[in-house]
Amino acid sequence: MTVKIGLLGLGTVGSGLVTILSEQAAKFQSQLGQSVSVKSALVHNLDKKRPGVPGTITLTDQVDDILTDPDIQIIVEVAGGIEPTDQWLKKALENGKAVVTANKDLIASKGQELIALAEEKQLPLRYEAAVAGGIPILTNLDNYYFSDQITGLAGIVNGTTNYILSQMANKGLAYETALKQAQELGFAESDPTNDVAGIDAAYKAIILARTVYGLDLTLEDFHIEGIEAITPFDIEALDQLKMTTKLLFEIRELDDRHYQVQVAPAALSKSNLLASIENETNAIAIESKNLGTSLFAGPGAGGRATAQAVLADIVAIIQGQKQALPSIQKDYQLKQPAKQAHVF
Ligand code: NDP
Ligand code: HSE
Repeated sequence: MTVKIGLLGLGTVGSGLVTILSEQAAKFQSQLGQSVSVKSALVHNLDKKRPGVPGTITLTDQVDDILTDPDIQIIVEVAGGIEPTDQWLKKALENGKAVVTANKDLIASKGQELIALAEEKQLPLRYEAAVAGGIPILTNLDNYYFSDQITGLAGIVNGTTNYILSQMANKGLAYETALKQAQELGFAESDPTNDVAGIDAAYKAIILARTVYGLDLTLEDFHIEGIEAITPFDIEALDQLKMTTKLLFEIRELDDRHYQVQVAPAALSKSNLLASIENETNAIAIESKNLGTSLFAGPGAGGRATAQAVLADIVAIIQGQKQALPSIQKDYQLKQPAKQAHVF
């Protein structure tokens, strides 16, 4: 049997997925007992040359060709943006299809509605790639940490800004040059404003806070600051003090009703756990009752790493793995954050 995928988007992540699927085709067949193939893919520009994309994939610029195709069991959304992707994914679920997405903007902003619909339809809705692409963080939070009590999370969840800050500090690159490189390497969003302004990291913090604590946050609820104001002078001055700067998110449980959430640059001692995390690498430190502090690190952006997370979700769906979708707490309050992110 073949599991057929409808791919919404064939850019950095979509083409990474097509590449890995073709490399691992024999393993999928032998170890899952089914082959997995992309039947069709939605693109904007049908005339664009797409080297490496097999001719067996039908390209279309009409999303309904894919969403209404009865052959397709899993919709993978890697197009980006909150609209019209929200409508696409609702329609996919209404049409009985499992959904996988890498879209943090969408899952942070409209995740609740989509989760409710997926629950109503009893269909999988998975989004591991939406937070720290190359780190299997959501699966670990749902499964491994089930019996633990997480008291806080902090770390680096935006590859573009970490790349820029690393290149400015280590190679003396100008901000603009480092940003351009991050765009060329496929780390930045198509419009990198959200990356550098801390919004992309904030979307990921919203998803993490919902997953761990059931918080229902919007961007307006907490302090968000990006890296635009950081100058080479700041970086040099910190270096003299054996310190470095990183864009950090922080989510802290003060008690079972009070939380602190923020995204902001932090000055870290070079001996800090997170100070050595360079370039597009992401890292999430988790503080929990049973484990103390644990650090998860791995590639946070880029086509292959992100596609790997998308494929992990596809494999989980094919294997019928049960999924714990988050439920929202009714009664909680956010407290003003500390001025600078506290790192364990
Ligand atoms: P790209 O811009 O490289 O690719 C987007 C793809 O979607 C393109 O193929 C584009 O078509 C298609 N597309 C977008 N909008 C439409 C539309 N309205 N109609 C038809 N086709 C459309 O994005 P990425 O692959 O980098 O990112 C995809 C998603 O994954 C985003 O949500 C992003 O935030 C997320 N993500 C990305 C990561 C990364 O490292 N790049 C990491 C983690 C998540 P065309 O090719 O014709 O332009
Ligand atoms: N633009 C994002 C980043 C992609 O740089 O982290 C991964 O979500």
